[in-house]
Amino acid sequence: MAPRSAAWEVETLEYTPEVERAATPLFERLRGAVPEIEWPVHAPYLVRIEELKKERNAVILAHSYQTPEIYHGIADIRGDSLALAQEAARTDADVIVLCGVHFMAETAKVINPEKTVLIPDLRAGCSLAESITGDDVRGLRAQHPGVPIVTYVNTSAEVKAESDICCTSSNAVRVVESLGVDRVIFLPDEYLASYVATQTDVEIIPWDGRCEVHERFTAEEVRRYRSLAADLIVLAHPECPPEVLAEADYVGSTSGMARYVRERQPRNVAMITECSMSDNVAAENPNVNFIRPCNLCPHMKRITLPRIMRSLERLEHRVEVDPAVAGRARIAVDRMLAVGRGSGG
Ligand code: 13P
Ligand code: SF4
Repeated sequence: MAPRSAAWEVETLEYTPEVERAATPLFERLRGAVPEIEWPVHAPYLVRIEELKKERNAVILAHSYQTPEIYHGIADIRGDSLALAQEAARTDADVIVLCGVHFMAETAKVINPEKTVLIPDLRAGCSLAESITGDDVRGLRAQHPGVPIVTYVNTSAEVKAESDICCTSSNAVRVVESLGVDRVIFLPDEYLASYVATQTDVEIIPWDGRCEVHERFTAEEVRRYRSLAADLIVLAHPECPPEVLAEADYVGSTSGMARYVRERQPRNVAMITECSMSDNVAAENPNVNFIRPCNLCPHMKRITLPRIMRSLERLEHRVEVDPAVAGRARIAVDRMLAVGRGSGG
């Protein structure tokens, strides 16, 4: 596998007869998920990543928004934010490669301070995580003394450390209700907060963060999809605006949407969420027809097979969290893990 281009930031690997032989069993994972014509492009990386996983005793965790060649091709553990955190807590691998965004890798590190946690591209951020700082959370606590703070995992470890408990889109309502109080501060996603408020009697004090991917969907767009098929089932992520959620048949996390399709096998479905989600779920449900709205998360798409390969080769980029911050963040994450999955997942 000789390098073909030194100019590209990660060397381009060739599709040789040796690679073809080694990749043959791996191709089964791509069948139905990635067009066959693309297999030779991915094959050299799939083969090398599989070798490196063994050498490093590494596990690859991939979020549902990763592209199919990653999600189906090389991930050991796949799913929503909660599934990745739960599996990070269980793994006995030495190295965790997080194919997702930075806050997910930080959460894995907080849970596993002794392990090497890698993110293939450090620039994989998140608009929600960037919308709030530890100082902001301290300010909210001072403004609302005694009111518990529930923090979506899409935040930095510093923000988690200032919080009482974390949640994901799959268990937000359950986490809020687990506290047994009348009011909570819920941050940072304004739309997830307003969705939770429709599902519980607990008063929700929101922050004004938004996901740059989900905030772009509109109710008008959903109604247009409905006009294409009378029996269309619309599944939407709770990071979408309220008027979009009002048009949906089901609101839930990425794993919740995937389970809905797997168990109910609707004839026609539209998933109002990030692009790769429909591709990944469609590959597992060949009898379901997907309308594929596409708002792409540019942060998730920083992760590619060549960057994953380089990450394992060089053990970069290591995610580190200040131990004092990690210790406090872990309390909030552990409390969430003890609550488990809710009806949105
Ligand atoms: P879930 O994984 O909880 O569905 O969240 C989606 C998301 O936007 C993660 O970045
Ligand atoms: Fe953040 Fe939205 Fe991208 Fe998820 S999809 S990582 S919430 S910007």
